[in-house]
Amino acid sequence: MGCETATNFQYSRGLEGVIAAITSISCIDGEEGILIYRGIPIQVMAKNSTFEETAYFLLFGKLPTRTELDYFIGDLKEHRALSEHEIGCILNFPKDAHPMDALRTAVSIMGLNDPMKGAESRDINLRIGIKIIAKIPSLIAAFDRMRKGKEIIQPDSNLSHAENFLYMLRGEKPDTEDARILDIALILHADHGMNASTFGSMVTASTLSDMYSAIVTGIGTLKGPLHGGANERVLKMIKEIGSEDKAEEYVLNALAEHRKIMGFGHRVYKAYDPRAKILKGYAERLSEKNGDMKFINIGKKIEEVMIREVGKKGIFPNVDFYSGIVYHFLDIPTDLFTPIFAMSRVAGWVAHIVEYLQANRIFRPRAIYNGPVDVEYTPMEERG
Ligand code: CMC
Repeated sequence: MGCETATNFQYSRGLEGVIAAITSISCIDGEEGILIYRGIPIQVMAKNSTFEETAYFLLFGKLPTRTELDYFIGDLKEHRALSEHEIGCILNFPKDAHPMDALRTAVSIMGLNDPMKGAESRDINLRIGIKIIAKIPSLIAAFDRMRKGKEIIQPDSNLSHAENFLYMLRGEKPDTEDARILDIALILHADHGMNASTFGSMVTASTLSDMYSAIVTGIGTLKGPLHGGANERVLKMIKEIGSEDKAEEYVLNALAEHRKIMGFGHRVYKAYDPRAKILKGYAERLSEKNGDMKFINIGKKIEEVMIREVGKKGIFPNVDFYSGIVYHFLDIPTDLFTPIFAMSRVAGWVAHIVEYLQANRIFRPRAIYNGPVDVEYTPMEERG
């Protein structure tokens, strides 16, 4: 029998340390807590860029000129509006569906309506990718409005990606500061090396399936609480704790029972996630602006106890820890936190898919077989 066994193959649980691709899109230095997008530190991108420019940078590999950026923004705006068929489908989604499930299905519906599927063509994949990046905010907002029994709001082409999303969600234009803070959160979430959802979407693309199928895979993979789904759970945990003086006991009990605290830990970072540092600042700012320090104070207490107890194991806040407090003060419902992660990370998924397909090889790992061999087939009547 030529099955793979533990002796003739190397096995890395959860693919830890396995190199699955070569990329020039982003890189994490987990020991130092550094993240770069195509060579530029995330702090510099957050300070100077916009989500639209960041998406262009990730997709095309260069910072755009003014003309290139204007053209790209125009392209995104052109593809924001939902078709009648898409609206009709969303109006028939179950109101109590999780918004990540609604988003996954809605992107799949986009694919049904698009005769241009792509597979290997870089140009077609980029064009479809841009359409999906443009439309995801409209899909999320439409589902949220529908489930609340409110009218779906059409996109406003005078507004930026972040501004327009808040407008379609809330029904009124956000103030400049709220829109800029969401824009920065989108920049911070746009890419992150070979994370699970990026890898998932690349696996689908590597079979020469199509861009929609690959993005649907990405959304489904991001949804889990060990990945993008953690942000929603963080805010629920903070609400459950209820007050700063109960945070220490909550964390100590969770650790004693080997329960994970959501928004902490990372496969690659063994230092403070640089994105969490930036988001913590905005969570503080928005708490002050709204005159409500309860959640941020609970969050900071959780952080203090976690770093004291498990910081030596390299467990620190990750991007999902403070983002929830930011979104809460932007009036975003808790179950939309992970869809907002998807709304940004889709730029990274598309960029990695397009890059990988330039020298595509199907992902096809193996598994160590530890089951029996030479088993006789027992006829049904003899099985008892
Ligand atoms: N709380 C308490 N202990 C933790 C945590 C946590 N959040 N994360 C890791 N540990 C402990 C874990 O119990 C284990 O301890 P021991 O060696 O004593 O058994 C050790 O750290 C290694 O943990 P692991 O689960 O084997 O690490 P991993 O690299 O497989 O998983 C992770 C990484 C992010 C899934 C994990 O840290 C986790 O589950 N964190 C909570 C969920 C979360 O915040 N996810 C968002 C990740 S960042 C955003 C994104 O990329 O999606």
